[in-house]
Amino acid sequence: MFGLAPILFALLLGLPIFAYILVQIFFVALHNHQKSAKNLPPGSLGWPLFGETLGFLKPHCSNTLGSFLQQHCSRYGKVFKSNLFGSPTIVSCDLELNAFILQNEEKLFQASYPKPIHGILGKHSLLTVTGELHRKLRNIGVSFIATSKSSPDFLHWVQKLSISMMESWNGCEQVFFYKQTKAFTLRLMVNHLLSVKPDEPLASRILQDFETYMTGFVSLPLNIPGTGYARAVKARARLSFSVKEIMTERRKGKASGQLRGGEEDFLDVILSKQSLTDEEIVSIVLDIMLGGYETTATLMSLIVYFLGHAPIAFHKLKEEHQTIRENKKDGELLNWEDYKKMDFTDYVIYEGMRCGNVVKFVHRKALVDVKFKEFLIPSGWKVLPIFTGAHMDPDLHENPTEFDPWRWIDNFKEMSKKVTVFGGGSRLCPGAELAKVVISFFLHHLILSYRWKTKSDDCPLAYPYVQFRRGLLLEIEPAASDQQEKENKSI
Ligand code: HEM
Repeated sequence: MFGLAPILFALLLGLPIFAYILVQIFFVALHNHQKSAKNLPPGSLGWPLFGETLGFLKPHCSNTLGSFLQQHCSRYGKVFKSNLFGSPTIVSCDLELNAFILQNEEKLFQASYPKPIHGILGKHSLLTVTGELHRKLRNIGVSFIATSKSSPDFLHWVQKLSISMMESWNGCEQVFFYKQTKAFTLRLMVNHLLSVKPDEPLASRILQDFETYMTGFVSLPLNIPGTGYARAVKARARLSFSVKEIMTERRKGKASGQLRGGEEDFLDVILSKQSLTDEEIVSIVLDIMLGGYETTATLMSLIVYFLGHAPIAFHKLKEEHQTIRENKKDGELLNWEDYKKMDFTDYVIYEGMRCGNVVKFVHRKALVDVKFKEFLIPSGWKVLPIFTGAHMDPDLHENPTEFDPWRWIDNFKEMSKKVTVFGGGSRLCPGAELAKVVISFFLHHLILSYRWKTKSDDCPLAYPYVQFRRGLLLEIEPAASDQQEKENKSI
C-alpha cells in the first residue's frame, strides 16, 4: 500500500510537468515552423497558452496606443504576429490592411469572437452568427434602426429623458456622469424597443441585469458559481426571460383583439415577422440594446471628458447650440432638421470617437491563406484589425492624442476614411446615425444647462472596453445665462 504512494505522488506531480513540457515543445516547434514559413509578419508568439494576451489587454488611456502596441509597432512595424486569446494572431494597426479585412468579410475573413464571448451572447447573436443567418437578422435590425433614428416619437423621448436628467441635477455640485449616462441610454433603448417606461420596476430590473451581463465581457471566462462570468451568463438568462414575458403578453393581447396603446415599437415590428424563432427575437432585441447602450453612453462620457479639457471647443459648441435655440420657441423640442444644422457638433462627436476609441478592435479570422502586400496571413489564424492603431497613427494625424475637432473642418471626407469607429464592410455598425443624433440632442440640453470640470483626472481607460475607473465625477454649475455671458465678455 505504502509502495503505491510515491508512484501516485510522482504521477500527480509528474503529469502536469510532462504536459507542460509537451506544450513547450509544441510551441517551440510551431515557432520554428513559422520562422521557416515565408513572409509571415515579424513578431513573437510569447508564452504558450496565454501568449502575449496579458500584455495586449493591459489597461491604458484610451487616447493612446498603449505600451504593448507602441512597443510592438516600433519593433516590428504596423503589422505583426502574436499569440492572443489562445490563437496565433496577425495584429494590424495599418489602416489599409484594416479596411481590406473589413471589406472582405465572408470572402477572405470572418467574424470570430472568442468562445467565452459566445457563452454570454448566446448562439444567435449578430456578432457571432455568419452567412445567411447573419444577413437575415441584420436586415431586420438595420431597417428598424434606419426608420427610428428620425422618428419624431424617438427624438422626443431622447429629449424628454435628457431634460429630466438635467432637472434631476438641480442643486447638485457633483455628479457621477458615466453611471448616469449608462442609465440614460439603457432607459432610452428599453423604451424604444419594448415600450418599458423608465419609472416601471421592470426598467430598473433590466438595467441591473444588463450591467451584470456587460461585466461578463471583461471577466475571466470561468463558468463557476460566484465568478463575474457566471453572473453574466445568469443575467443574460434573466434578460431573455423578461423579453419573453413581454412577448407572451403581446401575443395574448393580440389574440384577444386588445390594441396596445402608443407607438409601434421594435418588438411589435419583429413579432409580425413570422420567420423568426423566439430565441432569434430575444437575441436581436438584446443585440440592439448591447450595441446601442454602452457604446453610446461611453461616447457621451468621452466627449464630456474631452470638452472638460478643451474650453475653446466647449465655447464653439455652445455657440452652435445657442444659435439653434434662438430660432426655437421657449421649450420647443428639436427635430431632424435641427440635427442637420449641427455641423460643429458632428466634428466634436467624430473627434471624440477618434480620440476616445470606444471600440479598440474587432475579432476576425482568415478563411484562406491571404497575401497582403509582402505578408502572408495563414488560413485559420486570428486577425485583429486595431482601429486605435489608425486613429493614433502620427503618419495619418498631426498630434494624434490631442482632441481637436477643427481637424475635421474642410477635411471631413479625407478624415472619415482614416477613422473607422463604426467598423466597415458587411458588418458596418447599423446604429451609427442613431448614436450620433442621440448624443447631439443630449449635448444640446447639457451644454445649454451646465458647465463642468472633471473632478480628478479620471482618464478613459481602454480595458479593452473603455471604462472610467472613478465613474467620471464632474463638478457642475448651471450655465451662465446669455446676459451673464455678455457681461463676462465685456469685463
Ligand atoms: C458610439 C456608438 C457606437 C459605436 C462606436 C459602435 C461600433 C460598432 C462597431 C465597430 C461594430 C462592428 C463590429 C464588428 O465588425 O465585429 C458595430 C456593430 C453593431 N452595432 Fe454599433 N456602435 C455604436 C452604436 C450602436 C447603436 C446605437 C446601435 C443600435 C441601436 C448599434 C448596433 C450595432 C449592431 C446590431 C452591430 C452588429 C452588426 C453586424 O454584425 O452586422 N451600435 N458597432
